[in-house]
Formats: sequence, structure tokens, C-alpha cells
Amino acid sequence: MHKVEGMTDQAAAPEETIPGKPTAASRTTLSHIMTAGDTNLLGTVHGGVIMKLVDDAAGAVAGRHSGGPAVTASMDEMVFLEPVKVGDLVHVRAQCNWTGRSSMEIGVRVLAERWNESAPATQVGSAYLVFAAVDADGKPRRVPPVIPETERDKRRYQEAQIRRTHRLARRRAIKDLRERHAAEGLDD
Ligand SMILES: CC(C)(COP(=O)(O)OP(=O)(O)OC[C@H]1O[C@@H](n2cnc3c(N)ncnc32)[C@H](O)[C@@H]1OP(=O)(O)O)[C@@H](O)C(=O)NCCC(=O)NCCS
Repeated sequence: MHKVEGMTDQAAAPEETIPGKPTAASRTTLSHIMTAGDTNLLGTVHGGVIMKLVDDAAGAVAGRHSGGPAVTASMDEMVFLEPVKVGDLVHVRAQCNWTGRSSMEIGVRVLAERWNESAPATQVGSAYLVFAAVDADGKPRRVPPVIPETERDKRRYQEAQIRRTHRLARRRAIKDLRERHAAEGLDD
């Protein structure tokens, strides 16, 4: 079995029978020219338009990696670094950074360049999304373990594990706090 430092227990579980897939097999780029219909009241591109493209590109990666339907479970650390303008050609690059049992973390970088100029594209945003692969009933199903092959992909795998640990810890801490408040009748 392919082994990455810090790889999850899931990948080493005895029930494991799904062959892994390399990161590169599902890496996807979605490109789109921004038009007047994409703008906000300030005349630059609406953040929600970029988020839709991010979700679309990540969804394509999740579907390709898992070999079937996958739904967005969360989107976090969505960062907008520079405004995007009408006439920008936006490239949304997405890859599967990490896999759990049924979930996948998809990392996304957003780049923009003028549609009619040959200047290099600049990074304008990034995000991390968790997708869950689902069956026909919408229930989570197992996904192939991702196999990070390059040093960069291995680093991204390890960073994704750190985010996963933090997401779980934060959810657990907030759930515990809410349960304590509810038990003490403090949320009325
Ligand atoms: C995502 C969803 C399938 C999870 O179902 P569930 O019954 O909670 O199942 P689980 O608790 O087993 O979670 C499944 C996996 O998703 C992960 N997950 C669930 N919610 C998550 C969240 N908010 N953030 C990160 N990961 C999450 C779990 O950690 C688990 O990962 P693992 O199998 O790799 O360990 C379910 O909540 C759902 O269908 N949500 C709606 C999704 C959707 O419609 N998205 C589009 C929005 S319009």
C-alpha cells in the first residue's frame, strides 16, 4: 500500500479494498470570462460568482475522484486577495488534497488574467472545500484514497489533515458548549 507520512487510519483499515487514485487523475481547471452580469454594485465581480465557480470546479474534482455523485459538505478559508474585473479570464484550479472514509478535501486556487493580454495570471483567491461522496439515497459512500505523488501534493495532504483535525475539534467544542447551555436552560 502507498504510504504517506501521517496518512489516515482509514487508508490502513483492514476493510480497505478500494484502489487509490493519484491526485493528478482528478485535477481540474475551469475557466470563465467575467461579463457585466457578474458584477456587484461597485462594478467588480461579485464574490458569490467566484464562489459558484469554486464550488463547480471542486465538485468536478470530487466527482472524478470518487467516481460518482458528491455533495459540498463545507467550504472554508475562502479568501479573496484581489478584485476581479469585467473582462478578466478567471481560471479555477482544483485538486483533491486529502481523503477520509467518505469525504474529500478539495483545494482551489483562483487566478485571473486579462482576456486579451498575454500578461501572466495573478492569484486572486483560494478556498478549501469538503465534499462527501454519496450513494443513490444521498448516504455517504466510501471513496478511493488519494495518492499524493509530488512533494507539493504530499505537503498539501499533510496540511489538509491539520485542517481536518481543527474542523473536527471546533465542531465538537461548539456542540459540547451548546449542549451544556441547553442543559442549563441558558438559551431561552
Ligand atoms: C454532507 C452529508 C452527506 C454528511 O452526511 P452525514 O449523515 O452527516 O454523514 P457523516 O457524519 O458520516 O459525514 C460523512 C463525511 O463527511 C464529513 N463531513 C460531514 N459534515 C461535514 C462538515 N460540515 N465539514 C467537514 N466535513 C464534514 C464527515 O467528517 C465524514 O467524513 P469521513 O467519512 O471521511 O470521516 C450531509 O450532511 C448532506 O447531505 N448535506 C447536504 C449536502 C448538500 O446538499 N450540499 C449542497 C448544498 S446546496
